Parts: sequence; C-alpha cells; structure tokens
Amino acid sequence: MLIEDKYKRYTVTAALPYTNGPVHIGHLAGVYVPADIYVRYLRAKGKDVIFICGSDEHGVPITLKAKKEGITPQQVVDKYHHLIGDSFRDFGVSFNIYHRTTSKTHHETASDFFKTLYDKGVFTEEVTEQYFDEKANQFLADRYITGTCPNCGNENAYGDQCEKCGTSLSPTELINPKSTLSGDKPVLRKTKNWFLPLDKMQPQIEGYIDSHKDWRPTVFGQCKSWLNGGLHPRAMTRDLDWGVQVPVEGADGKVLYVWFDAPIGYISATKDLCDPALSEDKKRDYYFNEDLKPVAAWEDYWQSEESKLVHFIGKDNIVFHCIIFPAMLMAHGKFKPADEVPANEFLNLEGDKISTSRNWAVWLHEYLADFPGKQDVLRYALTATAPETKDNDFTWKDFQARNNNELVAIFGNFVNRVLVLSHKYFDGQAAMGTAFTSEDQQVLNDLKVYSDKISSSLENYRFREALSEFMNVARSGNKYLADAEPWKLYNTDPERVKTILNVGLQIAANLAVLAQPFLPFSAQKLSRMLNIPQLNWDQAGRTDILETGHQLNEAELLFEKIEDQAIEEQIQKLLNTKNMNEQQETVLPEAKANINFDQFSAMDIRVGTILSAEKVAKTKKLLKLTIDTGLDQRTVVSGIAEHFDPENIIGKQVSILVNLEPREIKGILSQGMILMAENTDGKLSFVIPGENLANGSVIR
Ligand code: 2FM
Ligand code: ZN
Repeated sequence: MLIEDKYKRYTVTAALPYTNGPVHIGHLAGVYVPADIYVRYLRAKGKDVIFICGSDEHGVPITLKAKKEGITPQQVVDKYHHLIGDSFRDFGVSFNIYHRTTSKTHHETASDFFKTLYDKGVFTEEVTEQYFDEKANQFLADRYITGTCPNCGNENAYGDQCEKCGTSLSPTELINPKSTLSGDKPVLRKTKNWFLPLDKMQPQIEGYIDSHKDWRPTVFGQCKSWLNGGLHPRAMTRDLDWGVQVPVEGADGKVLYVWFDAPIGYISATKDLCDPALSEDKKRDYYFNEDLKPVAAWEDYWQSEESKLVHFIGKDNIVFHCIIFPAMLMAHGKFKPADEVPANEFLNLEGDKISTSRNWAVWLHEYLADFPGKQDVLRYALTATAPETKDNDFTWKDFQARNNNELVAIFGNFVNRVLVLSHKYFDGQAAMGTAFTSEDQQVLNDLKVYSDKISSSLENYRFREALSEFMNVARSGNKYLADAEPWKLYNTDPERVKTILNVGLQIAANLAVLAQPFLPFSAQKLSRMLNIPQLNWDQAGRTDILETGHQLNEAELLFEKIEDQAIEEQIQKLLNTKNMNEQQETVLPEAKANINFDQFSAMDIRVGTILSAEKVAKTKKLLKLTIDTGLDQRTVVSGIAEHFDPENIIGKQVSILVNLEPREIKGILSQGMILMAENTDGKLSFVIPGENLANGSVIR
C-alpha cells in the first residue's frame, strides 16, 4: 500500500508570499512548483485534496515599501496581490484559493485564535524596553531602525540584521541607532507585549519533532538544532499599526506578530473556500477555483486525524512551520499540527544569491511575458534542478539545454514520431497489436514499473527523482522506436508496423497520464492529440489505454526549440542588472571642501611623456620615471608599480603637476607628481589629454 492511501483527505499549503514584490523562480522552485506537482498527483489519484495559498499582507516590509512609494500599505498589497495571483494562475499553479490576510475572515480568525490562547492563559505578559521615535510618536519595528553594525562597521545595518556581513542583530546592538521615520536617535521606552512561552512548551514540541524522524534531514536537523539551543519565549504582538489588532484590553496600537497571523491565514483561506455563501466578488478576489470545490467542511481539513497536513515552504520558514505554528496549534487544542514539511533549500541564479532588493531574479510575470506558452518548460527546468537536498543554481543555458535536449529531443520527439507515423500509415487510427515480441512485452511491462517508481518518489517528496523517471519513460519509448525502425518495415511487413505503433501509442498514452503533475499544459495537449480525456493516475501502467481503431487527432509539436537569441537576451538582462548594482553599490569618497580659484590656478599641470621607467629597488610600490615635461626632462617617483609594468608605460603621455615641491623618496629626488584616476576598487588609470598634445601643454 502506498502511504498516501492511509489518509482520507489532504490539506496542502504553500507559503503565503509577502505582498511587497513579485514572485521569482526561487519561490517557484522552492515552494510552488513542488507543491503543485504533489497536489496534481493527488488529484489525479482522485483524492480529496485542497491546495491553499494567499497573500501575506502584513508585516513591516510592506509598511516600509508604502512609505518609500508614498502610498498606503493597502495600496501596496492590492497591487501585489493581483500581480502575484495573476501570475500564479497563468503559470498553472492550481490553488483552490489564493486568499488574503487583509480579508475580514482572516482578521476574525486570527483574532479569535489569539483570544482563545489568551483566555486559556497560554501567553505570558512581559514589559520590555523598545526603541521609540519621539517625533513620529511610535515604537519602532526592528526594520525601522538603522545604525552601524558592531561586527563590520556597515553604517546602514538594520535593527534585525546587517545585510553586509549577514550578522543577525537586535536594535540595541546598533551603534548610533537612527529612526528611519524621522532620522532622529530613538529612545528606549517600556512597552507590554504577549509572549508564547516556547520554553515551557519545549517537551511537547520535542515529542512532536521526534515523532517525525522521517522528515527531510535538512528539516529535521534544523528543528533539532533550535531545540538543542533551548527555546525562548517569543513575542506574539508588536507595537505597530498595520496588521490584525490585538483583541484584548490594554493593547491599543498593537497588532499580532506577522508570523502569528500568517500561518493562521491557511485556516482562514480554508474557511472561505468551504463557505458555500462566499460572494462572487470575493471569489474573484481570491482566485477561487470553481472546478475544484472542496467536498468537506473546513474543520475536517484541519481538525481531523484522517486529514494529512502538508506545508510546502522554503528553508527560511522552517522554524515557523515546524516549531512556532505547531506550538500555537497544540496550545489551541482543536488542531493537529503538520504531518509533513518538505522544505526546500535555496535556488541561486547564475551563481549568485537571488535578491529582490538587488533585482537579481527571474520574475515570474516577466518570464510569462517573455516566453508565452512555455510554462511547462520552466516547471521542468526548475524541477530537474530543484534544491531539495542542497542549494542549487539556475542558469539560462541549463534552461535552454533542458528544453532542447530533453523536452524537445526526447519527450516531444517520441510523441511526434508515433503520431506522425500513425497518421501516415494508418489514417490516424490506433493500429492493432499482434504477435508481441519479447522486446515489445518488456517495454510494455516497464510502464507499470516506471509508474510505481514515480508514485513512490512523489509520495516521498522526491520530485527531481520522479521527474527523471518520467523522462525515462519517454527515453525508453524513443529507444524502442529507434531499435524497431518501423519506417523501414512498412513496405515489407505492415503487420509488424501496426504492433510497433500500437506499443508506441500505449507508451504515449501513459506519458499523457504521468505528465499531469509535472507538465500540466503538455499533458493536456498530448491527451488532446491522442483524443483521450485526462485519465486517473491509476490508469498508468496499463498497456491497452488506446483501443484498436481509436481515432487520433492531428499531431502538433509538444515543445519548440529555444533559440540562442532568446537565451542571450535573458543573460543580457541580468548583465545589465549586475552593472547597475555595481554602480549603485560603489561608495565614493566624500567630497572635499571648496577651494578658491587662486588655489586652483596655483597648480601648474602639464602634458608630459614617460621616457623611461624602472622599479625602485627594495620597494613594492614605487617606479622611478623620467618625464619629458616640455620644460625639461625630470625624475618623478610614483607609487604605481603594483598597477603597471615599467616596459608597458614607456612612451605614454601623462598629466604632471610640475610645481609640487621636490622631495626625496628612497634616496631619489622626485620632482613633481603624475595625476592618476582611481575607481572605488582601487584600479588606477593615467589622466591623459583626449588627443596627443605637445609636451608642456598646460592643463587647467
Ligand atoms: O517568507 C515568506 O515569504 C512569508 N511570507 C511566508 C509566510 S508562510 C505562512 F506562514 F504564512
Ligand atoms: Zn555587518
């Protein structure tokens, strides 16, 4: 029995994306593509499954973005909720609902949840000192405070982290803290907040984690390391005005901690999904999928032992989904915590960490615009390199190779050959198979073996492995055709060709079933070409899906080659981003104080030519130069030896300050100074006239 048959229904959640920017391929590879594969697999098996997601619309980054753009937080989240929701829909991520944490249902659900814990006496109240901005008259979230990092000296570190050296900080560790609201130095002020006493709950949480030793080692390991470090009470409320109001007395101006409210968002979404009276307006706003109506009540998906709860997340969310949210659910009493948390590691892009602020990303909405109709190609490439056990790298060249060498050359090619030959020889009808050879039998028997392997990999959250087995089915079909060579036999042995194409068509029909979770658009297209409905997963492995005489539709190409130019355009786009970032990241030395014109004209700067150059003995940096200044030939000692080889600069024109007081350097009298330009990386370059000028020409 496959493990999934143990459960009556499935509640699958995908991390709610923050609504302060679009979704990129890192999010897709880490969370949404594997989650969608898993859900489509369960649906293809006819399981009762709901797939829940939505916008995470609270939290400080959203308020910061609103401030920066001079709009309200609500305007920020409205914009991104629809941008993200539309691109998920267009990409084929098949959520039942894409909800919002600003919704009324969510505010009520999160508020009630907090109140239940409060009434049960779960929280502890603590008064702590927090930074307060007296001018803005508000407490400052960590992200609202900047200052100098005590670790690396970066002057723009945040109150929770220095992005330069990566150290996590608390606001009071910053040197010269500054409020980003007023620019003033904040003061410490006492404030009361409600804490979840994770320290007291440690044994219960430990028991829960230890009952899941089968989780991915990366997930289980991270949980154990939190537990081994000893859990600490954690504040579940914040002094902020954007979020769910804390529903108790004496909590004015306080909202629920975003990591308290966000995971409850999964429950709120399920409530609206299962509400038969949900209005049409809300259905539209929540991308409600009419084709996927749930069959049970919301409580059944969250509070029943017969339901399996699976959270798809990225590794930065592990502690919240494996420790804090389960602790909240257990403290509440009515809910069961997650059964599985298949968290992924991170995806990098062309060797660099994906970063929203540095625009180092492939944005989903841009991909959809640049590669229309190629959703499955990205799904395929991201699954084939999914960061399941370690961080992985996405490159455009790999993307192109996956498409051209695998999707086009193996899967697409196989399907195309079978269909085209069936049309050519048998008017597009499935031919009858007779007198099966042992090779025929073998390749047909393998179909069941493959489909079992794929099922087992999917149920163990090994999506890469599952995909690679899927491709092996197409590979085996290709090899079968290449070995059997029906095109050579038609004139002499048409009966044999019928059998070969029958076998080929059964493989193609199996591919149409097995492709459903991974490549939903192509699975549909292939089913259309084969003129079959989308079949239940359990049909996979059958060798008689297409009956003799079954009429096929016209053959179309499943995949198209991606040309170099399309890839180069994407690479160029990234190079432009890189250049822009480099320009922005360079810190120029501060401007010097003004001088008057007389001070400037006191300098006598001339065009000169280097006549000879040699290293000054026993020094690393110095070159001894002889310069023709037009006025004379003189010696200058210059600190450029680490940048230029003497033989390469002889004959070069330079700018030379000729009236600098002579001084002795390493026993050599230096008469003047060569002007050099230096960039922020310390690279030197000669300052030369735009065209060759006579030595002695004046620079002013
Ligand atoms: O890391 C993130 O993008 C969070 N917005 C994920 C929240 S998941 C859930 F708890 F809502
Ligand atoms: Zn630092």
